[in-house]
Amino acid sequence: MTSPIATTESSAMVRARLWSRTMLQSRARAGNDGASNAEEEAVDFGFRRVSADDKGRLVRAVFDSVAPRYDLMNDLMSAGLHRLWKNALVDWLNPRPGMRLLDIGGGTGDVALRCLARGARPIVCDVNASMLDVGRDRDIDGGTPSAITWVNGDAENLPFADSSMDACATAFCLRNVTDIPKALREARRVLKPGGRFLCLEFSRVVIPVLDRLYDSYSFRVVPLLGRWVADDEEAYLYLAESIRRFPAQENFAAMIAEAGLAQVKLRNLSGGIAALHSAWRV
Ligand SMILES: C[S@@+](CC[C@H](N)C(=O)[O-])C[C@H]1O[C@@H](n2cnc3c(N)ncnc32)[C@H](O)[C@@H]1O
Repeated sequence: MTSPIATTESSAMVRARLWSRTMLQSRARAGNDGASNAEEEAVDFGFRRVSADDKGRLVRAVFDSVAPRYDLMNDLMSAGLHRLWKNALVDWLNPRPGMRLLDIGGGTGDVALRCLARGARPIVCDVNASMLDVGRDRDIDGGTPSAITWVNGDAENLPFADSSMDACATAFCLRNVTDIPKALREARRVLKPGGRFLCLEFSRVVIPVLDRLYDSYSFRVVPLLGRWVADDEEAYLYLAESIRRFPAQENFAAMIAEAGLAQVKLRNLSGGIAALHSAWRV
């Protein structure tokens, strides 16, 4: 018998394929070089395989579209859980005053703001100017701008010197990056020897039954929330799909070690819906 989840996923895949095709065609028409390089290796964009260039463009389009409602959607989708997970990341990192901390794919600055509150000197680096704009506006809303530095840059080519950071933190970004091993090597490169790496990402649910409920919720409810709140159902379908394509916690721990970081440890959060990975540059 076909499981309800398999049915849901296959209809989601059809919709994702249609959507991705439409987006790729409209991007090509819009005057990007248009030709996706046929020789280029295909990579995952949710459940679809696309060229590396197209993935970069599609990811930027997703976050351009959701940026204005990104923070609200996070609260609604996770019923506020993402705040606890980010607190857990910062608790584990335990930033010390004056620490130079890079928040990779920091978006609207949730992790950076928490680290700032503990005396760190955070830099938010994100490939999407629209996400940074929302974060910067939120930062200034509190009065004068805080000490956060906002930088437009790519996790795969970080615009920072070797050995310049005390810590690199990243939350829910690496799933969207085209070449994850490259982004991990970049994090290692910019870390000082003795520097700390911490990653919060969606992962594999390790509690039976919860995994089925979570699948139903993320493929059925989250895209509808995306439609109603952010006017972008497909972006939130991509969210659900990209989570399934991201390596499971143990495999991701191995990737971190392969990038040259040491003492890799992981903690599951909320039964593995998310996971924290910690490592050091030695
Ligand atoms: C799901 S959001 C997470 C934002 C923030 N870290 C948080 O936890 O709320 C993912 C972020 O990663 C950024 N991103 C995706 N690909 C990136 C890349 N290659 N380099 C830097 N940032 C990237 C997106 O623009 C987006 O802001």
